[in-house]
Amino acid sequence: MKHEGMDGIESFESPGKGRGLRATRPYRIGDLLFSCPAYSHVLSVSERGYICEHCFTRKEGLAKCGKCKKAFYCNVECQRGDWAMHKLECSAMCAFGENWCPSETVRLVARIIATLKVQKDRSASEKLLLLKDMEANLDRLDNEKREMNEADIAGLHHFYSKHLDFPDHQALLTLFAQVNCNGFTVEDEELSHLGSAVFPDVALMNHSCCPNAIVTYRGTLAEVRAVQDVGQGDEIYTSYIDLLYPTEDRIERLRDSYYFSCDCRECKTKSKDKAKMKLRKLSDGPRPEEIREMVRYARIIIDDFRRAKHEKNILFTLLEMCELSMDKMGAVFDESNVYMLHMMYQAMGVCLFMEDYDSALSYGEKVIKPFSQLYPAYSLNVASMYLKLGRLHVALGRSSAASTALKKVTGQHEVIHMKSHIHTSEHTH
Ligand SMILES: C[S@@+](CC[C@H](N)C(=O)[O-])C[C@H]1O[C@@H](n2cnc3c(N)ncnc32)[C@H](O)[C@@H]1O
Ligand SMILES: [Zn+2]
Ligand SMILES: [Zn+2]
Ligand SMILES: [Zn+2]
Repeated sequence: MKHEGMDGIESFESPGKGRGLRATRPYRIGDLLFSCPAYSHVLSVSERGYICEHCFTRKEGLAKCGKCKKAFYCNVECQRGDWAMHKLECSAMCAFGENWCPSETVRLVARIIATLKVQKDRSASEKLLLLKDMEANLDRLDNEKREMNEADIAGLHHFYSKHLDFPDHQALLTLFAQVNCNGFTVEDEELSHLGSAVFPDVALMNHSCCPNAIVTYRGTLAEVRAVQDVGQGDEIYTSYIDLLYPTEDRIERLRDSYYFSCDCRECKTKSKDKAKMKLRKLSDGPRPEEIREMVRYARIIIDDFRRAKHEKNILFTLLEMCELSMDKMGAVFDESNVYMLHMMYQAMGVCLFMEDYDSALSYGEKVIKPFSQLYPAYSLNVASMYLKLGRLHVALGRSSAASTALKKVTGQHEVIHMKSHIHTSEHTH
């Protein structure tokens, strides 16, 4: 049976990249290329109580599940709509109590397995690609990745066996590999992590470090928009990674997580690397080995910090890590060097969490200009930073600075089209 496909977009064999998506007609910058409902989605544990588990709406006064008291919903419809998924966890969370701790990937895979059981026809998320046909890159997994998948499978059995019949081990390995390579993290307009989801049609897009498309979310719907003009027949690319970092770092990240080496224009020309690696102006030096040593240090501290944050280290320790590393790196790197920006961005996040808005704002003001130079012209990272600055100015009662920052958001968002997410009241303050 032939299925309907999609207007204006088709799947094709992209030389050297597997399948890809391409435009069958021209699109202008800002156009919606397509949208795709989540095949399965899961809300992060840390967002519970703030966002509806079913439709991912953020609002106050959500109603909680009377049984587990851990899942929150807009209303009875959302609760009913979510039950087929929530029942996988509701009683298990009560039974395990404090010990209930499956990873977000495991939680998502449990939901996919439950959905696969009932979803017999092609879903609205699979107009061009079926979930079961997503790339797994199975032959490229190294031992470390295999072990991680085995640990996830063990977690799945441990936390979900009561309410789920599992496919065989090989099928589970494939499914985890597919989710690792094709899964999306859902973020809000400030780029806070809300949860994880699979969107098979969106996963058809290959990666470029100078993407012509961007993915944003409206509830659990993914929207793909052009951030450059797209000609008829052009491949549509999105970015899988944070594009702040120099070419070598991006290539390593893409190889490690997605098993390919990027051959995009930016990876070939490295045109932004020099600015990204800007050094402090010193009369003599810094010497090449000093720079290499500091880059090595920067990469280690970035990893250490990520781990510390994940382990929910005390905020003060996190802030201290940022400050100490910036002190050290500042001997060699300019303030606009991406490794400095990375730590400032993290420090800003910690300050926001501690509700120290003045400090958050001063970090934000330092990163915004280099951010807008180092990221692509229309970038969610830049837009969300302007939004945060605008909201900080509002919180601190600085109305004219707020409106300047929020105007910049509007400029970015006219293309990225997140306007609907920004409360209009913010513009009028
Ligand atoms: C989310 S999938 C994209 C769709 C995929 N090409 C397919 O056939 O299903 C990610 C995988 O696509 C391939 N890929 C994505 N971008 C690529 C690129 N720029 N160059 C080479 N391979 C790429 C890699 O195998 C990667 O693991
Ligand atoms: Zn809802
Ligand atoms: Zn419940
Ligand atoms: Zn690239």
